[in-house]
Amino acid sequence: MIILGIEGTAHTFGAGIVDSEHNILANEIDMFKPAEGGLHPREVANHHSETAAPVIKKALDSAGMAAEDIDLVSFSMGPGLGPCLRVAATAARAFAGYMRIPIIGVNHCIAHIEIGRAVTGCTDPALLYASGGNTQVIAYSEGRYRIFGETQDIGIGNMLDKLGRELGMGFYAGPRIEELAKNADRYYELPYSVKGMDVAFSGLMTAAVALYRKGVSLENISYSVQETAYSMLTEVTERAMAHIGKKEVLLGGGVAQNMRLREMIEEMAHARGAEMFVPDRRLCMDNGAMIAWLGYLMHSSGVRMEIKDTEVRQRFRTDEVSVTWRKRSAPRSSCREFPEIR
Ligand code: ATP
Ligand code: FE2
Repeated sequence: MIILGIEGTAHTFGAGIVDSEHNILANEIDMFKPAEGGLHPREVANHHSETAAPVIKKALDSAGMAAEDIDLVSFSMGPGLGPCLRVAATAARAFAGYMRIPIIGVNHCIAHIEIGRAVTGCTDPALLYASGGNTQVIAYSEGRYRIFGETQDIGIGNMLDKLGRELGMGFYAGPRIEELAKNADRYYELPYSVKGMDVAFSGLMTAAVALYRKGVSLENISYSVQETAYSMLTEVTERAMAHIGKKEVLLGGGVAQNMRLREMIEEMAHARGAEMFVPDRRLCMDNGAMIAWLGYLMHSSGVRMEIKDTEVRQRFRTDEVSVTWRKRSAPRSSCREFPEIR
């Protein structure tokens, strides 16, 4: 079976093609970069409308395929920015309708975990999903991917990007902050906000901006922000792993490309006798291949959707989806059940 996956939850429009052995035949992305300031959902949606057809065409070309070769279309149904989600959904519906093939809307966060499981070979990990808009620790338990910890305010990547803007670094500051941190000579203490398995970043960001106004160097601010924020993520990931007894930790999301975060998580994992897994950079970021792969898993486990079931869901939670494609490892508990997405 050949599956086309369409991603469009935030700034990236992606089209990926995979087969049923999770071979990635194509994975094309086009990322919207604002001239200045943050992301305006309308502007991003306009970008997606303009790039959707060319990106899908590029994916077909790089896979050496024609539209007729595709057997199933899946798309990111949420969570994400409404106008962007609607463009991806419209592209998927048009493709499925025209080619008369089935369509499946998938949860973007679960796509990160499933592509990681498929390509890294880990089997039952806790996922630290650290991206622009999302920061969650997710793991499988009793038929669902459950969120064990998450940010109470902004995503880690959004915090880095907003801070970068305040400090004049331009958009997409994560990699720049990582580079600057290498040349620091001092750590400045910043608010460390961990509540149980949740984190919060806005206090840290405000304090970092205050350091900048006092004349502290960008290098030292970058270093202090990384050490503090990534320690917070490592602590909550460890707590979740201990709580649910997982021996594997998988990283996903754009911030998973950060080498300092990887180093901290790996050290924590080794200390617990656990192992860390990180997919290739192109699969950590938002991309269509992961959407295609989750579409395949759902379809092969019997999930079917009509066009009327494909409405986008801006606040689509990870634990709303019944994980029909994994064997249940434990008996069902009396915990609250959410409506089944079938
Ligand atoms: P999502 O829709 O899943 O919330 P997203 O649309 O923001 O995610 P991703 O591609 O997953 O997209 O992640 C982008 C984020 O990753 C940006 O905030 C960027 O600053 C951050 N990032 C990229 N590389 C690095 C790095 N080396 N270190 C830290 N952050 C990074
Ligand atoms: Fe993502």
